Amino acid sequence: MFRNDMTVQRQHFAATLALLVRNLPLQDIFTEPLMDLGVYHLRIGAKPEQYPVVRDCLLASIAECLGEKWNKQVETDWTDLMDHVIAAMLRGAMLHALQAISR
Ligand code: HEM
Repeated sequence: MFRNDMTVQRQHFAATLALLVRNLPLQDIFTEPLMDLGVYHLRIGAKPEQYPVVRDCLLASIAECLGEKWNKQVETDWTDLMDHVIAAMLRGAMLHALQAISR
């Protein structure tokens, strides 16, 4: 599925996460861009059931990087953030699909 160089892909993904984490109190302003990101993922063929897989891989990567600093609280915070991101992306994808069939 990944057409681009994975270095660029990693940078895009990391930049998105950094933006979200640095602006945690402003989560609402990300709802629309995340919904658009969900539409983009719908177009490239990402399936809803793949989202938790990506989330769990990400959590495992962060856990590996943080080593002993990884704890239950950090795990809960990252899981909550990713579930929030995934929910907005899937909402965007779903609304887009619904609009497409109601035309
Ligand atoms: C868990 C939440 C996810 C986030 C936050 C996320 C984020 C992103 C971002 C920021 C991009 C770059 C978009 C751009 O270049 O403008 C991207 C691209 C991509 N994502 Fe995701 N993604 C997620 C889940 C998934 C899932 C579940 C899949 C399914 C396998 C997926 C597959 C892809 C692919 C294939 C591309 C690159 C497409 C291309 O080469 O142009 N992503 N993602």
